[in-house]
Amino acid sequence: MNSDWVGSRAGAQPYEKHITSMTKFIVTGTAGFIGSTLAGKLLSAGHQVVGIDCITDYYSERIKRKNLESLIADENFTFIEKNITEIDWPSVLKGTSTVFHQAAQAGVRASWGQSFAVYTDLNILGTQTLLEAMKGSSVRMVYASSSSVYGDTPKLPMHEDDAPQPKSPYGVTKLAAEHLCCLYWKNFQVETVSLRYFTVFGPRQRPDMAFHRFIRAGIEGQSIHIFGDGKQTRDFTFIDDIVEANILASEKGRPGGVYNIGGGSRITLAEAVDKIGHVLGKPMDACFQDVQMGDMRHTFADTTRASEDLGFSPRVSLEEGLAREAEWIENSMALLV
Ligand SMILES: NC(=O)c1ccc[n+]([C@@H]2O[C@H](COP(=O)([O-])OP(=O)(O)OC[C@H]3O[C@@H](n4cnc5c(N)ncnc54)[C@H](O)[C@@H]3O)[C@@H](O)[C@H]2O)c1
Repeated sequence: MNSDWVGSRAGAQPYEKHITSMTKFIVTGTAGFIGSTLAGKLLSAGHQVVGIDCITDYYSERIKRKNLESLIADENFTFIEKNITEIDWPSVLKGTSTVFHQAAQAGVRASWGQSFAVYTDLNILGTQTLLEAMKGSSVRMVYASSSSVYGDTPKLPMHEDDAPQPKSPYGVTKLAAEHLCCLYWKNFQVETVSLRYFTVFGPRQRPDMAFHRFIRAGIEGQSIHIFGDGKQTRDFTFIDDIVEANILASEKGRPGGVYNIGGGSRITLAEAVDKIGHVLGKPMDACFQDVQMGDMRHTFADTTRASEDLGFSPRVSLEEGLAREAEWIENSMALLV
């Protein structure tokens, strides 16, 4: 049922893992934006998925339960509603090919102050518990890292070998967990691959994220609040491209490796707002507020390594992705209010 590693370190694609039909995967954070979409994609390809999520209160439980609905209806899906620190890992890992580790407390701005303990617990301790349980197994882990590990780098685009300088406590926890992934590969040969996602958008995007807030406000005819002058840039990545990158990383990622995953759609926030207005067919009414502590000025991914090793290339344009997110929000308003 499970696939085997065939191949060795050589050339641009050092490892090849052939995914056969009905492979067993684990997706942590499976009730969230990215985890639920990834789990759905794996199930639609005929695989078996164990989803793990403790349904944190970072945003509405109703949204997360809705994300889970279609997964739970699939007979190849098993849901475990627990914190990853409380799982009986030896039995859950049995027969698994890859763990897609998406579970984390997200959000840059909320990570300051008292709530940092939640970030260290879920993001660092959670990842370390999983890595400890994977020692001695041949299970691969694809870890959801973040562009937030970079901070305000002196040069753009951002390259994996640039010195990370996180600007937020959230970024510190994502980087700490990424370092743990590298350590467990070097010391215990746990096959980890870290993907640094650059601002992910599309259907099911978290309600605290800018595009989600802007599109909803636009539909409701309300003005939007932009933190900063609107000239900050982001490399936006559509959810389907993130899902594809995860699957490619499980097959071809170099163990211990780190890859930027960006959508190639870097524009200013003000330009993105104009595009949202275009998609909604009405101009957006924006007002500007102070820059928030921890927000990076620019993000821009150099994806050469992901292209060469994984064969990754983003497919969905910003315009198409925004239209798909707007359609999802319009159809989900009753759930989101
Ligand atoms: N969305 C983005 O733009 C983005 C960018 C960079 C990195 N990431 C990373 O991608 C991953 C997924 O992000 P998302 O936007 O889907 O977030 P999300 O909040 O929608 O999903 C995360 C899920 O993990 C669950 N969770 C958190 N800690 C857990 C734990 N210890 N045990 C079990 N479940 C737990 C939460 O309940 C939630 O459902 C995160 O690791 C995040 O840091 C996201």
